[in-house]
Amino acid sequence: MDSFVEKDLKYCWHPFTQMKDYESLPPILIDSAKGAKLFESNGNYYYDTISSWWCNVHGHNHPKINAAIKEQLKSFSHVMFAGITHKSAIALSEKLVSITPANLRKVFYSDNGSTSVEVAFKMSFQYWQNIGEKDKTKFVSLDAGYHGDTVGAMSVGGISDYNRVFKPLFFESYKVPSPYCYRCPMGKDRRSCDIDCIAPLEEILKNNGKEIAAFILEPLMLGAGGIIIYPKEYLERAAQLAKKHNVHLIADEVATGFGRTGKMFACEHAGVEPDFMCLSKGITSGYLGLAATLTTEKIYEAFYDDYEKMTAFFHGHTYTANALACSAAVASLEIFESENTLEKVGNLTGVLRDGLCRMKELELVGDVRQIGLIGGVELVKDKKSKEPFDLGRRIGYEVYKEGLKRHLFLRPLGNVIYFFPPFCIKKEELQYVLDNTIEIIENLDS
Ligand SMILES: Cc1ncc(COP(=O)(O)O)c(C=O)c1O
Repeated sequence: MDSFVEKDLKYCWHPFTQMKDYESLPPILIDSAKGAKLFESNGNYYYDTISSWWCNVHGHNHPKINAAIKEQLKSFSHVMFAGITHKSAIALSEKLVSITPANLRKVFYSDNGSTSVEVAFKMSFQYWQNIGEKDKTKFVSLDAGYHGDTVGAMSVGGISDYNRVFKPLFFESYKVPSPYCYRCPMGKDRRSCDIDCIAPLEEILKNNGKEIAAFILEPLMLGAGGIIIYPKEYLERAAQLAKKHNVHLIADEVATGFGRTGKMFACEHAGVEPDFMCLSKGITSGYLGLAATLTTEKIYEAFYDDYEKMTAFFHGHTYTANALACSAAVASLEIFESENTLEKVGNLTGVLRDGLCRMKELELVGDVRQIGLIGGVELVKDKKSKEPFDLGRRIGYEVYKEGLKRHLFLRPLGNVIYFFPPFCIKKEELQYVLDNTIEIIENLDS
């Protein structure tokens, strides 16, 4: 075993990992990365099919982002963001306000997706306190949603085998069934339903709206819940209901933001203007930790008063608006314009669609789902009955292991294999990824 990997096993504890798995398959030591590929020191490479946990946008080692960070380094790398400001944060804020829905006018920075969600919760909660609506203290979320691993974010996420142990720590929240068409919670068929799964949300908002601060959801795609892509009509109706019942809408675009769904933000597909939008992951194109929570002038105004009224938002993180991260984010947004990135995404979606259509025919594939450059493949034990694989069977892990033999770095979500490649991936590279995944799935035993 490589001596670095030996030291890794001695000192490092990896996220979302049963470390014992590394006894048979140790972590891969990446030496360099370029575009859509990750390289080992011996020249062997892997396609980063999931954009390094969904954050890489323009590909690894992009010269323009490298240059922007180096330029920022010449002056300073980080200063605190209370009592002090800097040009990279100002430029990024102006840019974010100009590309997100028109009602979002203020940007609050933090450093990862979970904290962007915590900020939205706390702002929503305090907004209602500040304006005297003291009973509005609860949250509603989807039962297959995922918003991060901090305790607040877990409280509104789905309960799974991964986080059940923490349940006693969660704050109480209302959960509504997810718009999961393949396994419809209402037993309907998408072709004939009228978004019937919105009814439980409507019921809760109608009956309990007075005590609800906000409804949070991932627009159009429940990512970690299993790449569950749902109709835009659900999002439209949910936004209308939130407005009608005086409840904030928090759009968690941590995964869907920055072009992933074919538009800059998933909310655009439904013309929805949320009260809060949470952004992270792709914001720096996968270079540095940064997050932003955007909100409206109206919400901001409710915090704006003389100090002694104690209405300020007393929340912050040491690395808030880190200058290196902000400079990377500004460069990434410039690349969207100079390289017509959204057009590139559009050109790749057909390749993904064709590959997914072929996968749909395979014996162990129950459902395929796609939006923009995100594709999900749900493996099932029995196609007819939709019987899922037992998680202990680790079918996804088997695909992962086989993928490594074919230069693919896939990282399944349970029984769901998915594709979330950097936008710089070439058509023939994506084709290679899809063709090889098909062969792997074909060779699996149920
Ligand atoms: C929709 C969504 N929200 C929040 C998060 C949490 O982000 P982070 O891992 O940066 O805390 C994730 C991460 O996967 C996510 O997909």
